[in-house]
Amino acid sequence: MVKDLIREAAEAILRSKYLIALTGAGVSAESGVPTFRGRDGLWRRFRAEELATPEAFRRNPKLVWEWYVWRMGIVFRAKPNPAHEALAKLEGLGILKCLITQNVDGLHQLAGSKCVIELHGSLRRVRCVSCGFREVINEPPKEVPPKCPKCGSLLRPDVVWFGEAIPEDAWSSAMEHTYRADAILVVGTSAVVAPASYIPRIVKYRGGKVIEINVSESAITYIADIFIKERAGEALPKIVDVINELISR
Ligand code: OAD
Ligand code: ZN
Repeated sequence: MVKDLIREAAEAILRSKYLIALTGAGVSAESGVPTFRGRDGLWRRFRAEELATPEAFRRNPKLVWEWYVWRMGIVFRAKPNPAHEALAKLEGLGILKCLITQNVDGLHQLAGSKCVIELHGSLRRVRCVSCGFREVINEPPKEVPPKCPKCGSLLRPDVVWFGEAIPEDAWSSAMEHTYRADAILVVGTSAVVAPASYIPRIVKYRGGKVIEINVSESAITYIADIFIKERAGEALPKIVDVINELISR
């Protein structure tokens, strides 16, 4: 029963000394941000894998930018949901040490999470393809593709595309936390995109507990010690409630 699993998860979390989290698009689904895979993962008739690549951008920067303008529009209007808030509370309690996310929506930070490692960059920034210019934005560009104010080259979203490396500082701090972790919460990710998908596997291999929350099975469900098949915005607040109840005893 889900109720027993919630309690089991809360107890495992309280037994851990260094809990981390890996999140994916599923944590933001309840904020109205579409996931990448599955039914609502398509934009016009394209898949993320056909648009989020350097080749697609070279071939057709306007098309790729139109997709990002659509996504930025959604993200800038979106608000954190109870899943983001529960994760921020777990950090506030001193239990969750750091959160590693594949999301580019910035909603964890808006919910109050402090230690957030963005593996795939952020839709809230753009950068120049040639001169190193970078800028925080709070609305999508009016004209696409936008040009760099410094050198006139194309600006691109400051995100990681398929075939590109994860920013070195993000990856090295993710690994520092991963190697310290004795438990990991894996929330709302299909866990099919490497190297992010290695993170729960490393924790597991080193003897740590894997607690997964997802509405359906993912590529790492088979290594999960506890799998809670429920929406993140439902399960996470319940786990936090049980934790609060256990520590106030
Ligand atoms: P996916 O779209 O691949 O997976 C979303 C996961 O969330 C699925 O496993 C769903 O079952 C689950 N899910 C959906 N709604 C949920 C809810 N309310 N509560 C809990 N789980 C829910 O997204 P990611 O795993 O984040 O990379 O995708 C990984 C990467 O692939 C992305 O960061 C992006 C993408 O292409 C790049 O662009 C480089
Ligand atoms: Zn430039």
